Amino acid sequence: IKKIAVMTSGGDAPGMNAAIRAVVRSCAYYSLGCVGIYRGYEGLIEDDLVELNARSVHNIINKGGTILKSARSKGFRTKEGRQKAYENLIEREVDALVVIGGDGSFTGAVLFNEEFGFPVVGIPGTIDNDIFGTSHTLGYDTALNTAVEAIDKIRDTASSHNRLFFVEVMGRDAGFIALNAGVGAGAEEILIPEEDLGLDRLLESLERSRRAGKSSSIVVVAEGDKSGKNVYELAKYVEENLPQYDVRVSILGHMQRGGSPSCFDRVLASRLGVKAVELLLDGKTNLMVGLQDNKVISTDIKVAIAGGHSINHELLRISDIITT
Ligand code: F6P
Repeated sequence: IKKIAVMTSGGDAPGMNAAIRAVVRSCAYYSLGCVGIYRGYEGLIEDDLVELNARSVHNIINKGGTILKSARSKGFRTKEGRQKAYENLIEREVDALVVIGGDGSFTGAVLFNEEFGFPVVGIPGTIDNDIFGTSHTLGYDTALNTAVEAIDKIRDTASSHNRLFFVEVMGRDAGFIALNAGVGAGAEEILIPEEDLGLDRLLESLERSRRAGKSSSIVVVAEGDKSGKNVYELAKYVEENLPQYDVRVSILGHMQRGGSPSCFDRVLASRLGVKAVELLLDGKTNLMVGLQDNKVISTDIKVAIAGGHSINHELLRISDIITT
């Protein structure tokens, strides 16, 4: 291969820029051409591409967001959209595509490969950490630290006013941020999409905390938790059933997606970016690079998409013990 294109797709995540940089610099190192695609598949269809060289990516390793911008593309879901995307790549003499994104973005890449035989490699980038085939996705570590820092601050108010806070963190379908930030910030309860612990249990636990003389309580709730109530409804429910509590709600929202990537995310992005280019150079395709036991590995991208995710039950268990 002579030229690689790189894009970021789906929700942005800290570390995406570090991954772009690693891909571009690896191309330069191996004397390959490199083009960046703006706005993911959307930009590819619209031929919004830019030639990149080693110097184009200076001073971005520390930057949040993505210099290539990102989008969730409707056009690429159509055959015509993908045909146009293919023609644009051929026109630019691009031989392979690196997609930095989540499983939706990888599904597009697989389709693209099946229809046109175009070589693709995926780099997992999402704060949700919900991708099979890697212990960490880009941005997850940074988002976790952002969430913990924010919850620590909320704790100050919670304990100053003897309040109970419901803090909603991101994770539509995955409880990784909630579970780990919850344990890290000492949350009394953690509600995640993967487990329905039941509202009775929540009330019992909060009642126990109150009787134990706790001056503040934090319940971390993942966006997609299984209680059937949104975070405001949950707060209201608890207020009605445990009127002794002064309850507040805080939704952390998109602040969790922003900010300078942690050192972990920068190193991970650098390792995965280099590996993605090296796989393509070796003639490999349809793979996702990832981290397993601190080793860079690759997984069939279809397996990565279909694999699902599982949370660490040990964390739920120890959370109960250490918040007694
Ligand atoms: O997938 C990352 C994520 O931040 C989820 O945690 C969240 O549910 C979703 O994206 C929000 O997406 P958007 O920014 O498009 O509203």
